[in-house]
Amino acid sequence: MTHASAPGKIILFGEHAVVYGRPALAVPVTQVHADVDVSDSPRPGIWIEAPDIYLRAELNTLSSDHPIASVIHNFLFLLRVSRFPNLAIKIISTIPVASGLGSGAAVTVALTRALAAHLNYAMADEEVNAFTYEIEKLHHGTPSGIDNTVVNYARPVYFVKGQPIETFHVGKPFTIVIADTGISAPTNESVGDVRRLWMNDRSRWETVFDKIGEISFTARRAIEAGKPELLGELMNENHALLKTLTVSSPELDKLVEAAQQAGALGAKMSGGGRGGNMIALVESEHAETVSRTLKEAGARNTIRTQIL
Ligand code: PMV
Repeated sequence: MTHASAPGKIILFGEHAVVYGRPALAVPVTQVHADVDVSDSPRPGIWIEAPDIYLRAELNTLSSDHPIASVIHNFLFLLRVSRFPNLAIKIISTIPVASGLGSGAAVTVALTRALAAHLNYAMADEEVNAFTYEIEKLHHGTPSGIDNTVVNYARPVYFVKGQPIETFHVGKPFTIVIADTGISAPTNESVGDVRRLWMNDRSRWETVFDKIGEISFTARRAIEAGKPELLGELMNENHALLKTLTVSSPELDKLVEAAQQAGALGAKMSGGGRGGNMIALVESEHAETVSRTLKEAGARNTIRTQIL
């Protein structure tokens, strides 16, 4: 049996503007992960079991655009195998789906790595990353590539679309609380709405993207310099800019305000928006209070994570 795992991810700064070439920062969230086991099967076919999504099926009974089937079909195509091997694949993920924690990319990375290892196909990280990006494009339209990059390298990433991958050093660990609105909102809709805004008034929105890009740039410097306390104000500013882009929501704004009032150093929505998650920067002794307040304000779930 061969096993592979990939973490979740969260965007700290720069979502949406990253689609227009500005930098974004994202970090792995190791508290949640996707795990895949691949073993030889005595039964003919490729049998997939993913209890989290109530899936138990043979590959050929799934439509070819099924998210998991498409990974396996594309992987076998990459290998140019003439006869499909008989396999049993088990997929378990603790990453909430469609909430900005990179669940799709993590399943693809873990599944690709487990298949590659089991079938003795040497695959460098860069190749897994490029493959995962192609799969992301099949399901998410025009993704920037930030999800697959962070999940694949499991390191903090300073991401600029189309540029070589830059991981960066965290000068001093810091704590964030991630809170889930419980509302699943498709990223391609908010990305599409931002595109329509931009098409109608490019110069206005380019200025907003520039401001967000500067925030990401400044935030990276603060993190590297071991001054995470400076990130709080940058989060608040980034959230305000995302609000003007219309990608926040009353539920996200409520959680952001609740975190700020409960003693967080700063807070913002994270990812595509309209639902999904928000993040709050906290001193570790306040993490508990902020988490509790967020739940009282409607969060379905909170995750406390240390960025190292
Ligand atoms: O919702 P998430 O975490 O998958 O992030 C989407 C981030 C966007 O910048 C809105 C889109 C993208 O592809 O980068």
